[in-house]
Amino acid sequence: MMNKRSNPHTMPMRKKGNPHTIGRVIKTLFSFYPVLLPVTLFCILFSSAAAAVPDVFIQKVIAVIEKWGETGNWEAAKSEIVPTILVLIAIYVVALVAVFVYNRLMAVITQGFLSKMRRKMFDGMQNLPIRYFDTHKTGDIMSRYTNDIDTLRQLVSQAIPSLLRAGALVICVFSVMLYYSIWLTLILLVGVIFMIYVSQKAGGGSAKYFIRQQKSIGKTEGFIQEMMNGQKVIKVFCHEEAVKEDFCKLNEELNADSYRAHAYANMLGPIIMNIGNVLYVIMAVAGGFFYLLGIHNIALSFNPVFSLSIAVTFLNMTKQFTGNVNQCSQQINAIVMALAGAERIFELMDELPESDDGYVTLVNAVIDKDGKITETKKHTGEWAWKHPHGDGTITYTRLSGDVTLDNVDFEYEEGKPVLHNITVFAKPGQKVAFVGATGAGKTTITNLINRFYDIADGKIRYDGINVNKIKKSDLRRSLGIVLQETNLFTGSVMDNIRYGKLDATDEECIKAAKLVGADDFITRLPEGYETMITNNGANISQGQRQLIAIARAAVADPPVMILDEATSSIDTRTEAIVQRGMDSLMKGRTVFVIAHRLSTVKNSDVIMVMDNGRIIERGNHKELIEEKGKYYQLYTGAFELE
Ligand SMILES: Nc1ncnc2c1ncn2[C@@H]1O[C@H](COP(=O)(O)OP(=O)(O)O)[C@@H](O)[C@H]1O
Ligand SMILES: [Mg+2]
Repeated sequence: MMNKRSNPHTMPMRKKGNPHTIGRVIKTLFSFYPVLLPVTLFCILFSSAAAAVPDVFIQKVIAVIEKWGETGNWEAAKSEIVPTILVLIAIYVVALVAVFVYNRLMAVITQGFLSKMRRKMFDGMQNLPIRYFDTHKTGDIMSRYTNDIDTLRQLVSQAIPSLLRAGALVICVFSVMLYYSIWLTLILLVGVIFMIYVSQKAGGGSAKYFIRQQKSIGKTEGFIQEMMNGQKVIKVFCHEEAVKEDFCKLNEELNADSYRAHAYANMLGPIIMNIGNVLYVIMAVAGGFFYLLGIHNIALSFNPVFSLSIAVTFLNMTKQFTGNVNQCSQQINAIVMALAGAERIFELMDELPESDDGYVTLVNAVIDKDGKITETKKHTGEWAWKHPHGDGTITYTRLSGDVTLDNVDFEYEEGKPVLHNITVFAKPGQKVAFVGATGAGKTTITNLINRFYDIADGKIRYDGINVNKIKKSDLRRSLGIVLQETNLFTGSVMDNIRYGKLDATDEECIKAAKLVGADDFITRLPEGYETMITNNGANISQGQRQLIAIARAAVADPPVMILDEATSSIDTRTEAIVQRGMDSLMKGRTVFVIAHRLSTVKNSDVIMVMDNGRIIERGNHKELIEEKGKYYQLYTGAFELE
């Protein structure tokens, strides 16, 4: 049933849509619990076998009583019955222990399995490229951690053990039945095959809808999440009714899918039970006929006499057999359904991690007077790129913050180029500004420098090294980025600043805050640096959030800074204060600034005017004004950006 999903025409050619999901779940389980799992399995199978054994004993006891009825010798009967009953009790006790043990172990295994799976998902998610988050809804990803994990819980804690238990019991009871009477077994078998046929007809369809249900849940959660984030926008534009309607549609879809998924499953139980009851009657009648007509018995026990004890035992086994076959078919359906969730989890885990073939790394360095660089373990404040070459030699290049983009072309989606022929030279200590209309491609350039995305054509070099050769984490460590959208995490202001450099002392954090002009407002907060930031900084203003973000970048002290509309939410008066801090922050660093306010970029060494993914003008403020082009228009207000 799962195969239907992996239609080669609709599925991308990746590890996704694996039809062997169940095998993968089991393999993963085994890899997590190589000892506990077999022990648990053994206990499950043992307890199942123990449940079939009483049939044999009951037959024996009835046979003895039958004989006692004929002979009237109670003493002889008693000496046979008592040991049988004692053994039976012993088996029950051991089975009880087995049940207790596996239930305890199951709890350990299930919860441990889920915890490890969540961990795997989260770890994997940290390695995913930005592209993944740009193209997937947060709520849908969240739903994999909650709903889909829950289906996995049902799979591991209920469906699989129940199937094993019922399956083992079916096999045991079947063997016992063959042992007593092949004729009756065949009659029962025909009935059971009919029962399975009906259950597959009725229940088979539900798996498809269960997969749809899981997808619908993901979609609905994605929607709720998005609407929660956009609550203010919804209110401002009075979009409540429209949003309610959209939600209603999604909710109804979810309802329809869930209904179909469960309607079949619920119908199945009663149908099967009734077929089971009819079978019971048929077996009773058949057993009676066999006994009364004295039909020659064929059995694995080679007992030719079809006795009353066999007929009675068979009735008992009929219930057990049909009940457990029914269990099996239900659990198989449950497993197929749960696999829908498991697949979504594996899908997330199989997402290709951000590739990184970088081998040039950033190391602490000692640089002597004539510029010779030696690597060291100590923190010296000086850094160098360690560049191993094919012939085994290693060269070191001082980290200085020289960034060049050489004829760079880029597209997010195939066939839709966003950047054309971008060439930028930024020497250490230079301030390079990008101005241009929204959507011109300014942010995209910064996405390329830190390799959130890889370029289609051209080269980007950092200190003369192609950035593709640099290990991503080291490349990003050597860049400081402040974005327009600030993300603060739950924690104190101090913690948030320290995010830039985890081993920074309080003094370093405060120094950084002072440097960028954030100290002033922070000390005026009720608890100063210890003020808690919650919900991405909802308790402080947007401008204050940006100041903290700038301080966070400052504490990292990287040679290259990228400021993407970093001061756009700060008022002009505060900006003047921040500007002074920023100027000292920028000193000795290569800085890329993107800003709407031309006052911010005016003192840059070079200003790039961008339009539609192209650099149309370049030069410093004075040159560009003299050129009387687009920049001149912007500056004189003939063409306003803001
Ligand atoms: N993640 C993305 N996927 C696809 N297209 C994008 C993505 N981000 C930006 N774009 C497109 O790239 C172009 C440049 O965007 P951007 O660099 O953000 O402009 P800006 O100059 O305003 O910073 C825009 O047309 C935008 O639609
Ligand atoms: Mg932008």
